[in-house]
Amino acid sequence: MKITISVIKADVGGYVGHSAMHPALIEKAKENLEAAKNKGQLIDFWVMNCGDDLDLIMTHKGGVGEKGIHRLAWDTFMECTQVAKKLKLYGAGQDMLSDAFSGTIKGLGPGVAEMEFEERKSEPVLIFMADKTSPGAWNLPLFKIFGDPFNTAGLVIDPHMHGGFKFRILDILEGKQVTLSCPEELYDILVFLGAPSRYVIEAIYRKSDGEIAAVPSTQKLSLIAGRYVGKDDPVLIVRAQSGFPAVGEVLEPFAFPHLVEGWMRGSHHGPLMPVPFKNATPSRFDGPPRVVAAGFQLNNGKLEGPRDMFDDPSFDRARERANDIADYLRRHGPFEPHRLPLEAMEYTTLPEVRKKLEGRFEEVK
Ligand code: 13P
Ligand code: 13P
Ligand code: MG
Ligand code: MG
Repeated sequence: MKITISVIKADVGGYVGHSAMHPALIEKAKENLEAAKNKGQLIDFWVMNCGDDLDLIMTHKGGVGEKGIHRLAWDTFMECTQVAKKLKLYGAGQDMLSDAFSGTIKGLGPGVAEMEFEERKSEPVLIFMADKTSPGAWNLPLFKIFGDPFNTAGLVIDPHMHGGFKFRILDILEGKQVTLSCPEELYDILVFLGAPSRYVIEAIYRKSDGEIAAVPSTQKLSLIAGRYVGKDDPVLIVRAQSGFPAVGEVLEPFAFPHLVEGWMRGSHHGPLMPVPFKNATPSRFDGPPRVVAAGFQLNNGKLEGPRDMFDDPSFDRARERANDIADYLRRHGPFEPHRLPLEAMEYTTLPEVRKKLEGRFEEVK
């Protein structure tokens, strides 16, 4: 049976500030998706949050980009925005950049990751959700999962994965994409993935049969809005086991809290800290950036789960290290490279401050 997983997310209001989610928003979203399930539009769903981002995890038979599913997500976010406004939550409707739905939720603000596949005999799926960062944050872990034999033993050992994976990479500035093959084009892949503010992974396929393996959200709010409206706070779907990387191989890269852009005012580099659901509450300097992982076993489209995959002492050291890195970076205050480079700051309110001082600059005599 062909199943579609759609993970659609938006920040429709923070509680308190940008730190977490008010339970009333989760309740409202659940109510809407339950109604859609009762009508037969959804097979199953799970609603949760990472920080101030509301995540709708939905399974159905409509395929990728199905208008009805996108409308359901859009209407749900709109109704949750009304709840957020009533409660005077912070930044109510923050990611809702349009007031009209036009057939797809893409380009309207919310983030979208979707994939359709034939459900296997057993289908473990991991859904990652991040707060206070942008889609490029997935480049390093995804490269390690699907391209690095020092991370993923299966690339060496498992004959079904030994052929490697194809990476479809998107240039978010030019709106172009390229598909490169790993391991043959490994060094070419890294030319792009190493520049995560511009190049992001759109999808990863198993080379031997073209099966879809991973799909992240790639939406960049600042490019849609032309100004800073909050960080993108991306999501990611990864299939695991039996010819894909094992669950533990998918989680392994997150034991290294790599530096990502985001954090305070979306304008700083900080470590990505893997946390259990209950700790997805970025508070110190609005961070440091967080990632949670929800594990599901699909059961004819039904979502058995979630398991809270980072709720495990084996990630304690990553969290400690992330706190050490946070201490170190914070000591730089407003200096780069803690603060993002000037090109990235163009979308923030910094240029307004600079403009005020324009008249004070003189030609060098
Ligand atoms: P405002 O307080 O002006 O909304 O901007 C700061 C912000 O939201 C970052 O936390
Ligand atoms: P969010 O993108 O999570 O709303 O964070 C915005 C921000 O400016 C935090 O300081
Ligand atoms: Mg917010
Ligand atoms: Mg957020």
